[in-house]
Amino acid sequence: MNSMNMHRDIISDWQAQHERLFGQHAIKLRHRLAETGLFTRESVGKLIERCPQSHFGLESVSFDGETPKRIYGELGNATGLEAIEAIEKGRMWMNIRRVMDWAPEYNDLLNKIFSEFEARMDGLKTFKRNIGVLISSPNAKVPYHADIQGQSLWQISGVKRVFIYPRSDVFMSSKSIEKILLRETNEDMPYRAWFDDYATTFDLQPGEMLTWPLYAPHKVENHDCLNISVTMEHWTKPIWNSYAVHYGNGVLRRTLGLQNTSTSDHGLHVYPKAASALLWKKMGRQIDGDVVKTRDFRIAPENADGRVSVR
Ligand SMILES: [Fe+2]
Repeated sequence: MNSMNMHRDIISDWQAQHERLFGQHAIKLRHRLAETGLFTRESVGKLIERCPQSHFGLESVSFDGETPKRIYGELGNATGLEAIEAIEKGRMWMNIRRVMDWAPEYNDLLNKIFSEFEARMDGLKTFKRNIGVLISSPNAKVPYHADIQGQSLWQISGVKRVFIYPRSDVFMSSKSIEKILLRETNEDMPYRAWFDDYATTFDLQPGEMLTWPLYAPHKVENHDCLNISVTMEHWTKPIWNSYAVHYGNGVLRRTLGLQNTSTSDHGLHVYPKAASALLWKKMGRQIDGDVVKTRDFRIAPENADGRVSVR
């Protein structure tokens, strides 16, 4: 990172009330990630080239069959800049995962950002932080879903519309959350078009970041332009306790058929320490096990849709 800018706060418009809102409500803040020089097109291009195979994800949707099918791509011989160009023309999304594990300057940035949050929010202690880069085509969409840890989305270039739905049983039941936590589902979550009437929408512009409440369902729609975004994840003790409670309830429901399990994240339902340590290990394995082996297409910036079939 450009050391000249290290002393500048990454969040430029933090106000006292954000301490109370963070993690409880959707909040949009302004950031200075562009000043680090780590997210120019050139830097992101280099990052694509440096990304280990195991942390590289490239996806699209094929409309060849009866029903649209998710397909997986590879970089091939394309440079990072060519890949960005291809994504700009096509209908794809590329995930550069866990950047902090293999690019030290991004790890430094991640630490700086969360030190800043921890300094601003009394008692906040984060761990298992994660930073990734998402490069996605004009009009690409991420369907309705919820995530298991604290999330933030930082816009670098392009514009995306983010729909954040209320965190209530109407929009996502405890059972659905348990399914996500127990990783029983890859399917889309139950969604109705009228949900959008109750969503808060944000058109996220370059230089803006968005964070929302734990488990709040959301969906994302790119505007008609290439999008480069940074995704960050974090855990705190309360997030972990909530995870353990939902996980525990999910197991109880499945083994004992309990219907009305409590989801308060403190008290007797929180898993004992030993059990949560085991759970932790299991989770690490599940996250590592995401690697896709077969590839359906390759980046081809010379083609109209930016890709070529390889099967
Ligand atoms: Fe998400």
